[in-house]
Amino acid sequence: MCGIIACIGSDDAVGELLTGLENLEYRGYDSAGIAVQNGTGIAVRKKAGKISELKNTIARDVPNGTVGIGHTRWSTHGPPTDANAHPHTSRTDRVVVVHNGIIENYESIRRRLAAEGYEFKSETDTEVIPHLVEHHLDEGLDVEDAFKTAIGELDGSYAIALMINGTDTVYAARQDSPLVIGVDDDRYYLASDVPAFLDFTDEVIYIEDGEFAKVRPGELMLTDREGNVVDRDVETVEWSAEETGKGEYTHYMLKEINEQADSIANTIAGRIGDDGSIHLEEFPPGTFEDIDEVEFVACGTSYHAALYGVQLLRRAGIRAHANLASEYDTTTVTDRTLVVAVTQSGETADTMSALRAAQDAGAETVAVTNVVGSSAARQADHALYIRAGPEIGVAATKTFSSQVVTLTLLGHRLAEDLERGRPREDAAEFFAELRRLPTHIEKVLETTRAREISEKYLDKRSYFFIGRDNEFPVALEGALKFKEITYEHAEGFASGELKHGPLALVTDETAVFALFTGTNGEETRKNAEEAHTRGANIVAVAPDGTDVGDVADSVLWVPKTHPDLAGLLANVQLQLVSYYTANLLGREIDKPRNLAKSVTVE
Ligand code: F6R
Repeated sequence: MCGIIACIGSDDAVGELLTGLENLEYRGYDSAGIAVQNGTGIAVRKKAGKISELKNTIARDVPNGTVGIGHTRWSTHGPPTDANAHPHTSRTDRVVVVHNGIIENYESIRRRLAAEGYEFKSETDTEVIPHLVEHHLDEGLDVEDAFKTAIGELDGSYAIALMINGTDTVYAARQDSPLVIGVDDDRYYLASDVPAFLDFTDEVIYIEDGEFAKVRPGELMLTDREGNVVDRDVETVEWSAEETGKGEYTHYMLKEINEQADSIANTIAGRIGDDGSIHLEEFPPGTFEDIDEVEFVACGTSYHAALYGVQLLRRAGIRAHANLASEYDTTTVTDRTLVVAVTQSGETADTMSALRAAQDAGAETVAVTNVVGSSAARQADHALYIRAGPEIGVAATKTFSSQVVTLTLLGHRLAEDLERGRPREDAAEFFAELRRLPTHIEKVLETTRAREISEKYLDKRSYFFIGRDNEFPVALEGALKFKEITYEHAEGFASGELKHGPLALVTDETAVFALFTGTNGEETRKNAEEAHTRGANIVAVAPDGTDVGDVADSVLWVPKTHPDLAGLLANVQLQLVSYYTANLLGREIDKPRNLAKSVTVE
């Protein structure tokens, strides 16, 4: 899981590559590098550590050039060292490569090449690529054929950009790893993700799996696996560079938490009529009438959104399950199963492989994603966009709420279409409250006491999050966010499960965040009491005016709304608690250790 960038025909390739890498840093940030064609040869600079380290190295010796490639790495094969950083070069330095993905058969290729005298300078899987290409060049193939032949020998996933010394051309290919082209008149960019080049252009061409690109200033050629020229439209993306910047905020995460009123408004815009009717342009009535049941596949935060979605779908009579994508088992899937992949990035390898497995098993598929043109959007039979806008912070925040809201809309369409479905009786009230959600979120953001709570419980050793029904996924999500960015011990539990084991962990060094936003407040109060009597501090998250009894040491209030939606308000409070706690502990909030935004490895 890494980010790649290339710029072709730039006045300042180094400057643009570094900007692109900074915009891609959320994809990986343990080492980075660039290579530029400077007229006399290819200059390579690479460094372990953050992109700022690379910048310091380059500042001492700035290479010039108009064509270049760059990479920010999240290690899979070999630790983050200067040698393992990309770009990687062939033995004569004629071929230079950056790569995102995993070459599964790299060991056998490496052994074969080593036996022929090739020396390897790194421990990466990627390094076999430049050597293989050079090997085929030495056999007499031209660059295009050498590249294609080398690609044909690779098993695994890749997005690759390659330069040959002495030419102004960049060659690229993709298979199961994202790659897009940015177009700015005669200049081109290649990147793992659109925000990489949004500072320079918003015109893009999406490369499909199995395609090759040959790009030089003023000239772009895209071909498919069989060598046929592909004529693909240039699309304009709606995200702007300002949207992907931090603005007045100290961290992307705080910015993105604060954007939730707007992002949810965007998610529902034009999709809910004044009379509570749902309009999903992607899915006219009747789209799903042949479906019996729904299975969600997702990872991490998206899985929690899917769990929340399950609760909402079941309320509408729909048989629904959420599956961790990496554990997905298609044994019971039929052609009457609708498999919904929930993925912010649309690139998560585990989710992509579950999606493909579902398709192989005959299921109809939908991708619920934030990224237009992402791999999931293109792989699935249908794409439904959550429209949350770019999310840069590694910890998913605003996309969780937009995912849940999107799933409620999808659920309504399913309830109307499916034989077993029965649109909720309180639809008018529910959707009216859904339209009020942005206002309620604004109120949470204005009145929150999350910072105070974070300070008060900063010295605890464990943080538990408990809830029932749709509060349960929010409890799981609260704990995931907390551990991810604070590095403190945090667990989420169904309230009722506390007494079946986890209670043994509870001491006076535990803080328990108990969610009272659903319809089972009395049961949750009893469960919180069980922890309270064992010394834990209880922080209730509850709708304004709720009687939480004397069990709570502190309360985070949320506006009153429909109980099926109140979990989203509670979640904003918990996101803020995680944020402020991490900030007080001095953590790297936007780039937590060992994690990356887009997980394109299984
Ligand atoms: C946690 C987080 C991850 C992602 C997971 C799936 O804050 O961001 O758990 O939710 O890696 O990513 P997507 O949604 O892109 O498939």
